[in-house]
Amino acid sequence: MKLTLLGNCIHHPVLLLVILACAGIAPASGAGGRWDVLQRSIGVSAMHMQLLHNDRVIIFDRTDFGLSNLSLPDGRCRRNPRERVVPMDCTAHSAEYDVASNTFRPLFVFTDTWCSSGTVAPDGTLVQTGGWNDGYRNVRTMAACEAGDDTCDWDETQDALAANRWYATNQILPDGRAFIVGGRRQFTYEFYPTADSSGGFAISLPFLVQTKDPEENNLYPFVHLNIDGNLFIFAKNRAILFDYKKNKVVRTYPELAGGDPRNYPSSGSSVLLPLKPSPTEAEVLVCGGAPAGSYTSTKDGTFSSALVTCGRIKITDTAPAWVIETMPSPRVMGDMILLPNGAEVVIINGAMDGTAGWESAKTPAYAPVIYRPDHSPGDRFEEQSSTDIARLYHSSAVLLRDGRLLVGGSNPHIYYNFSNVQYPTELSLEAYSPDYLDPSNDALRPTIVDPSPNGAAVSVTYGASLTLQFAVPAARRARGGGGGGGIGLVSVTMVAPSFTTHSFAMNQRLLLLDAVKTAALARASTYQTSVVMPATAALAPPGYYMVFVVNGHIPSEGIWVHIQ
Ligand SMILES: *[C@@H]1O[C@H](CO)[C@@H](O)[C@H](O)[C@H]1NC(C)=O
Ligand SMILES: *[C@@H]1O[C@H](CO)[C@@H](O)[C@H](O)[C@H]1NC(C)=O
Repeated sequence: MKLTLLGNCIHHPVLLLVILACAGIAPASGAGGRWDVLQRSIGVSAMHMQLLHNDRVIIFDRTDFGLSNLSLPDGRCRRNPRERVVPMDCTAHSAEYDVASNTFRPLFVFTDTWCSSGTVAPDGTLVQTGGWNDGYRNVRTMAACEAGDDTCDWDETQDALAANRWYATNQILPDGRAFIVGGRRQFTYEFYPTADSSGGFAISLPFLVQTKDPEENNLYPFVHLNIDGNLFIFAKNRAILFDYKKNKVVRTYPELAGGDPRNYPSSGSSVLLPLKPSPTEAEVLVCGGAPAGSYTSTKDGTFSSALVTCGRIKITDTAPAWVIETMPSPRVMGDMILLPNGAEVVIINGAMDGTAGWESAKTPAYAPVIYRPDHSPGDRFEEQSSTDIARLYHSSAVLLRDGRLLVGGSNPHIYYNFSNVQYPTELSLEAYSPDYLDPSNDALRPTIVDPSPNGAAVSVTYGASLTLQFAVPAARRARGGGGGGGIGLVSVTMVAPSFTTHSFAMNQRLLLLDAVKTAALARASTYQTSVVMPATAALAPPGYYMVFVVNGHIPSEGIWVHIQ
């Protein structure tokens, strides 16, 4: 339904308002997006990335790659008797990147964070779990520093986990704890923090034994919190719906056709597709991966073509089936990131052949692909413009509040190797700006004016309403000039920032919100909309989210909202 909204007050349960745009504004052009190098070198390769609600991105690598290219401040050094490569290391293996100022500073991690996992706690603190060697069972926290504080740093707790977690996956639960599952030789899960002070224990998960193959191919399982509060867990080519409260498999999904593995080292990627307002169903998309045997064959110098297929499944159905779709090109080690317009998923980074692992891929996938879940089958994928920086093994991507993606990392070598290799260790950071950020869309771009995007996060509770005022330049011109032409449907989205590593954006979640009321305000081109926050923590676990107003497919800059 299209509603015209010029000075009228409209009540509409689902969506919202239509903003008149002046004729002659070009719609988003095809195959686009743009790439910008933000930093040639931040000194640390971005193996893991997490955006916090202070608009700073916490980046870290492993600690035993040799010397990084970023010195620790004030002559500080790491003297760790268990460090394997550099006994005395005065370089940083973690950095904090400030989005607004495009600056970074070194952070200090003591024990090895290699191939670890993470969650942002309800209070906005990054809780990183596991790693390797002296870091296998450690928990490290990094608070969102206050504005102007450039001294806050990591805090580490030794042996806080019940089991070694190397290549595990985390998912935040409705009660705010982290569910931590799998890892090398760990067919178990655990919770952090534990329910009481008696300490945690690892609980066996036979599904991880059942999905193990000689190449493993079930590491970094894809985990999504379903709207019924159960966990969808995907490993290799299989999936279950898991009731973690009762330690019970409540549904076994059919195998993803073809039998080829989708998890590390045959790393595909996966997202929970955007949830509709007051959702009654949820869908998962798994894309790419590598045929069985690919990891082994890279050791003999054979680089098999990656998988070109995606599987999509309605995880809330009692008898669901995978629907297979074909990407424009094969991809392994891609990252899948939900775009804030609620209508697109970007598949970015990775390679067209090989697998994850040292020197295990030859042909980078330079062009991201957009997937539009609501388009008809056959009309969902669109290839975007290419970067010229290879983002292979150990690369990552996260969504920023301004709608760009921060892209970093890539290190397919066992140490830092900057020369004499085909794909050197990458210390650069790039921004990928999806097509909606093209200046040709500026007239249609909403700007949230209240609450201010520059203010503190807005506190909300479950089921509460949130009122947003926003402006759209084209609306003013349309009113002044008697416009007409392009129209957009306005919606509001809410996005949980992800912990991205190894081709999986953990805890990533996008909800379209119910709008109760929208109205044009007296001030030219300004509108007000009220949305209802999700009803339960199973829909949106407690914590910080970015909220965007979306005109058609053009999102505003987001605001931070804290739900509890
Ligand atoms: C390392 O940092 C120095 C500046 O401190 C820079 O000149 C050099 O290019 C960097 N190396 C890499 C590989 O980024
Ligand atoms: C990378 O550097 C390390 C140490 O400097 C070296 O031992 C290794 O052979 C290099 N790797 C490659 C692929 O050149």
